[in-house]
Amino acid sequence: MLVPDSLLEVAVAARRVVVVTGAGMSAESGVPTFRDAQTGLWERYAAEDLATPETWERDPAFVWAWYLSRFGAVAHVEPNAGHRAVARWADLAQVEVVTQNVDDLHERAGNHDVVHLHGSLTSFRCERCETAYAGEVVVPERQVERVDPPTCGHCGGLVRPGVVWFGELLPLEAWERAVVLVETADLVLVVGTSGLVHPAAGLPVLARGAGAFVVEVNPLETDVSDVAHQVWRETAARALPALVAAVESRGGRP
Ligand code: APR
Repeated sequence: MLVPDSLLEVAVAARRVVVVTGAGMSAESGVPTFRDAQTGLWERYAAEDLATPETWERDPAFVWAWYLSRFGAVAHVEPNAGHRAVARWADLAQVEVVTQNVDDLHERAGNHDVVHLHGSLTSFRCERCETAYAGEVVVPERQVERVDPPTCGHCGGLVRPGVVWFGELLPLEAWERAVVLVETADLVLVVGTSGLVHPAAGLPVLARGAGAFVVEVNPLETDVSDVAHQVWRETAARALPALVAAVESRGGRP
């Protein structure tokens, strides 16, 4: 596959690279993107309606069952060639990952210190006292519509998914780190995000404003496209391995 020349030049010379990823990054691993139609018991619902504090408040067992099914689905998929390429690149140069994804596929591909803007499917905490929940989380063998969430060993509150729901604030530390990373980067690759959800969607703008070369990797036009210096209409699992192989063959940066 042909890697755009201008991107390759910047990628070879870049001292600091940040890869900002969204649901499209994991699509080729078999994780449906957030705005894809859902399947099974939840096909009548939009993810945007389920992932809210209001829905949790109204029916925690329903929301918990949905998260168990997502948690179980992610446990059964593998990082794709795109995740692996980003991890390989991090061995060659200073490459950081900022993701909106709640899966752990970047970590399983070998990246460390991934910034999770929207939390993680594999962490749980008490909704009341915020204590992290380290107990067992059992995924039912078949999809069920309702499962009572566990309760907190400290205060008896309900245990909730450690993700950021619509209308909630991002974890401050993750957000501040993401801003510093994109504002000090030479190259920011924005991979597989529709750029619709704020504040994450503002990162490419901040990056460009601070002088980074911004590239979008996405098969479709998005709200990020106009902000990017360059768009590469390819999928993550095709574009990233080609880019990293090309950087490597040019000697990359130690
Ligand atoms: N490679 C690259 N991009 C892809 C691929 C692929 N194989 N497949 C799909 N895409 C692109 C789509 O074209 C789309 O632009 O990925 C994007 C996915 O968009 P969304 O589903 O909106 O996902 P995302 O931008 O990550 O959503 C942001 O919304 O609700 C929240 O918290 C949730 O983190 C999520 C956030």
